[in-house]
Amino acid sequence: MNIGNRPFSTSAHRGNIELGKLFSRRLLFWNKKKNTRQMPWKGEKNPYKIWLSEIILQQTRVEQGLKYYENFIKAFPEVRALAEAPEGKIFKLWEGLGYYSRCKNIITTAKFISNDLNGVFPKDFESILELKGVGNYTASAIASFAYNLPYAVLDGNVFRVLSRIFDIELPSDSTQGKKYFSELAKAILPEKKAGEYNQAIMDFGAIICKPYPACGICFFNDQCKAYRQGKQDLLPVKENKIKIRERWLNYFVVRYRDSVLIRQRKSKDIWQQLFEFLLIETNEKVSTKKLLKLFTRQYGITEFDFQNSHPVTQQLSHQLIQFSFLQIQLKQKKTISPFLWVKISELNKYAFPKSLQELVVKHIK
Ligand code: ADE
Repeated sequence: MNIGNRPFSTSAHRGNIELGKLFSRRLLFWNKKKNTRQMPWKGEKNPYKIWLSEIILQQTRVEQGLKYYENFIKAFPEVRALAEAPEGKIFKLWEGLGYYSRCKNIITTAKFISNDLNGVFPKDFESILELKGVGNYTASAIASFAYNLPYAVLDGNVFRVLSRIFDIELPSDSTQGKKYFSELAKAILPEKKAGEYNQAIMDFGAIICKPYPACGICFFNDQCKAYRQGKQDLLPVKENKIKIRERWLNYFVVRYRDSVLIRQRKSKDIWQQLFEFLLIETNEKVSTKKLLKLFTRQYGITEFDFQNSHPVTQQLSHQLIQFSFLQIQLKQKKTISPFLWVKISELNKYAFPKSLQELVVKHIK
């Protein structure tokens, strides 16, 4: 019987707290003696750097995040440098990470700390949690790594580890599951070593208790409830109620000689602040003939040559994007507000969504 379906305060649960404490002790020992994983933010005490690393790591895997982290720290060694930088430069450094609203939050938070807090990063959990773009996970990470405050991190790694050790079948993305895992994580946290423990459990989840776990070399395989029942690959359980929205983004790469039309996305939608080409979005797949008709009707352009490119699909977390591209060569230059004419050789100065960058910008000559 797994404990996740019982209230937190039962006697079965108290047994689990004991098991958790044993796990924490062995984890810290493993961390000291065996864990050789190196990352530039490990052991870091500067809350600004920790904050940046954690926001980047919400977006990407550690291997890919390293370069972004180094570039950010190099360009903006402290919070004031980030707060005072031109936004275009920050977006350019963020390019490729996706979820651009998070980049906007970084800018807002850097300005808030720099202007309202006199450049001093907040030092208690509640104030850290109030920063824009900082949720429970990130606030716990910053509070424990920078100040050794007793807050347990709960990310995908930790859900996986705890669900296996305690054989918890509650979905980690359900309301009940989140509450349960959070209470459990808090109960087994060694309070005086919160920072060390939090980093160790994330490393353990990345090195040993991976999605396909290395139970044979795990220091806890004699105690792990999932392993003892051979069900480690079935945990954690995910509820996953995500509904996927399908969209058709029909781009017109409109050129006149060596210039191309682009604009900055302003609406509250994906890729806010990033640049794109002329776009007609539709609710379904539309033929090239129909698209050209829409283009002519909307922009009053009749004199052009065109070339069709292969359609491409991109899966985002909640959206399936179907791209199509039409290369349009104008016979006469025309001003189309709010688009800008930009020299093709200068396109690399503008931050584009990763998909447009890879699919088009790199290939336009
Ligand atoms: N993922 C998120 N934060 C992390 C950290 N501090 N170390 C390793 N992986 C992480």
